[in-house]
Amino acid sequence: MPASPEITEAAVESAVDAALTALAAASDTAALKAAKSAHAGEASPLAALNALLRDVPADQKAALGKLVGQARARVGQAVAAREAELVAAEEAQALAAEAIDVTAIAPLRLAGARHPLTTLMEQMSDIFIAMGWEVAEGPELENEWFNFDALNMDADHPARGTQDTFFVEPEDRHLLLRTQTSPVQVRSLLDRGVPLYVVSPGRVFRKDELDATHTPVFHQLEGIAIDKGLTMAHLRGTLEHLARAVIGEGARIRLRPNYFPFTEPSAELDVWHPTFKDGPRWIEWGGCGMVNPNVLRAAGIDPEVYQGFAFGMGIERTLMFRNGVSDMRDMVEGDVRFSQQFGMVV
Ligand code: DAH
Repeated sequence: MPASPEITEAAVESAVDAALTALAAASDTAALKAAKSAHAGEASPLAALNALLRDVPADQKAALGKLVGQARARVGQAVAAREAELVAAEEAQALAAEAIDVTAIAPLRLAGARHPLTTLMEQMSDIFIAMGWEVAEGPELENEWFNFDALNMDADHPARGTQDTFFVEPEDRHLLLRTQTSPVQVRSLLDRGVPLYVVSPGRVFRKDELDATHTPVFHQLEGIAIDKGLTMAHLRGTLEHLARAVIGEGARIRLRPNYFPFTEPSAELDVWHPTFKDGPRWIEWGGCGMVNPNVLRAAGIDPEVYQGFAFGMGIERTLMFRNGVSDMRDMVEGDVRFSQQFGMVV
């Protein structure tokens, strides 16, 4: 409340001075609001002086009214001016704080890494694409006939029992999780006909326990070439090129006689390289041979006219001896640090 209940020039002047000082001191819009209510609001000294006008003698009313009115107007304008100043300053501050540099380079956030099995399968497929071959895919849930019968492994064939197969119920539908990529040989012969040059990378399944050298789900690359006049020399040359391209220029291959029902003659494929982790030595890589005439017949192709070769190898195994990975579990556990070592970080 005013110190004196009388309207004097000094009282008005001091109320205005106090108001202007408080407004100038308000450093943000919240402080200004408080100063405005203290010096221009209903409980302010100027409002109290204004209220006294009711009781002043009539002959002084006009002069005192003008004095108080002008004072209130000055304070009102000062409030508006300070408000505009503070709002502008706060807006400028907010704009500066929210500024975005659209030219800035976003920090690199690692999303993961491509799996070395994937890149190895692509690399191997690319080697064949470069020679004019095609890449074919087959289903993982396969017909028993494609996985076994068409590959010359009939019901009581011993080789059929040696593969621990996941059969899928109901049994009378004869579906299984393919145990090898070889069924794609027959599918490709049926779908694409001859001449045929196809590789097929993919997942296969066998009832193995997961340990350092086994996994129930693994990958193979299958290859089949059928044409007129293909011989075992073509098979050897193709595999030697593959070995050099995948493993290194110093790679050598060797074929050892073996048995597979879908090839005749059949061979085990070994590979040798001077920089293998455990020293230069022969390592078993896969199987191969000249496609058995019965397989060609199963696909309706005359083996008197068309012949060819086939091969298949494990991708996990290839990665193990090529890159010195000693535990297969590292490949299935999904730890990105394992994949990152191979360089395909994304
Ligand atoms: N399918 C065979 C396996 O899983 C590998 C194989 C051997 C594939 C000989 C072939 C082949 O194409 O000719 O053990």
